[in-house]
Amino acid sequence: MNNFTYFAPTKIEFGLGAQKKVGKLLKEFGAKKVLIHFGGQSAKKSGLIDEVETLLKSEGIEYIEFGGVKPNPRLCDVYRGAEICKAENIDFLLAVGGGSVIDSAKAIALAIANPDCDVWDFYTTSKKPKACAPVGVILTMAAAGSEMSEASVITKDEGQLKRAINNDLVRAKFSILNPELTLTLPDYQTQSGCADILLHTLERYFKNTESFELTDSIAEALMRTVIANAKILHENPQDLNARAEIMWASTLSHNNLTGDRTKGDWSCHALEHELSGIFDVAHGAGLAAIWSTWAKYVLSENPKRFARLAVNVAGVENNASDPVSTALKGIEKFEEFFASVGMPTRISHLGIEIDDNLASLLAKKCSNGGTQKIGKFRPLDESDMKQIYLNAK
Ligand code: NZQ
Ligand code: ZN
Repeated sequence: MNNFTYFAPTKIEFGLGAQKKVGKLLKEFGAKKVLIHFGGQSAKKSGLIDEVETLLKSEGIEYIEFGGVKPNPRLCDVYRGAEICKAENIDFLLAVGGGSVIDSAKAIALAIANPDCDVWDFYTTSKKPKACAPVGVILTMAAAGSEMSEASVITKDEGQLKRAINNDLVRAKFSILNPELTLTLPDYQTQSGCADILLHTLERYFKNTESFELTDSIAEALMRTVIANAKILHENPQDLNARAEIMWASTLSHNNLTGDRTKGDWSCHALEHELSGIFDVAHGAGLAAIWSTWAKYVLSENPKRFARLAVNVAGVENNASDPVSTALKGIEKFEEFFASVGMPTRISHLGIEIDDNLASLLAKKCSNGGTQKIGKFRPLDESDMKQIYLNAK
């Protein structure tokens, strides 16, 4: 048995029309002047931003807009957002979008609550923030789980460095989850989101500590649900029930219900962040391109764990006398699933050509110049990382 802390303080409003509660929620959490933060186009085009503004007006809440967040959000926009917040006396950040918008809002919230610090230090050094301005979310894409996670991931253009903070201070006060708001997502983004949701569960599933049977079973049920509904959405993107299942899975896969994040492996995330840091690929697609190669590389660590995944999630028949072959069949099934919904299973499918030099560069960045390992199920050093990039090419 392992001890753990469970902390998931974000208030969730789930369902059709849930965004209508935004004004009341903002009041409940004491918002006086709100920065409405959003991405490039989608939330404007769908009319969601207009709807939110009308709702805020009707509650007498002041606001200003700050849009334009790019996928894989940039530090320069965080600095700009913080300047706007200071000039406008903003006391609440409302993120309307996917993981990138939420993470950018969290970073701005950190920047304005710690005015004497460079917010980037919280992402790249052991320096800890003392406070964080409140953040609320209206989610438009089920993927990153940022709506209920303690994380924010930001990219600095110079050096193409993508780094994360994990700290309870950045957790959203509330998240509004209306699956209808995800109906406009292109299939590639939907499936990339599903891959990310699966990986948030898989990274927790592979650890070198014991887990609860209950936690494992929740994780397996969540993965089966995501795989089944990703397939449905690949055929019919307008299936609202499938959208609802995926949205709830996104939130639960990254709020530690499926396992304690701090005990999980997270190698695939670390390896992927180097890819999206340099090549700006969709995060979930990058994960799908790496996972099966990582799985084969570390399989020998605990074949029975992989065999359990194969049987309970991928529907492989158990061969108790040969867990390695059961495990390999499961990894193959995962690859087949990703390919069937248009996700990459090799890095070349992302349009990135891995050669020896690029693999060395990625591994060097990922290991912080060879000074740190990644992963807990099987710790990987710089040469392991390079080998995985090469094997996954
Ligand atoms: O910018 P707009 O025009 O809004 O378009 C976005 C964007 O191009 C579009 N989109 C979002 N909702 C839509 C929509 N298009 C049509 N209809 C809608 N309803 O989708 C594109 C991708 O959006 P983005 O927010 O980048 O995707 P996602 O939610 O996958 O977030 C990815 C970011 O989250 C980080 C990733 O590294 C990446 O930077 N992560 C954050 C985590 C966290 N904070 O806990 C954990 C994750 O592991 C992940 O690392
Ligand atoms: Zn992720």
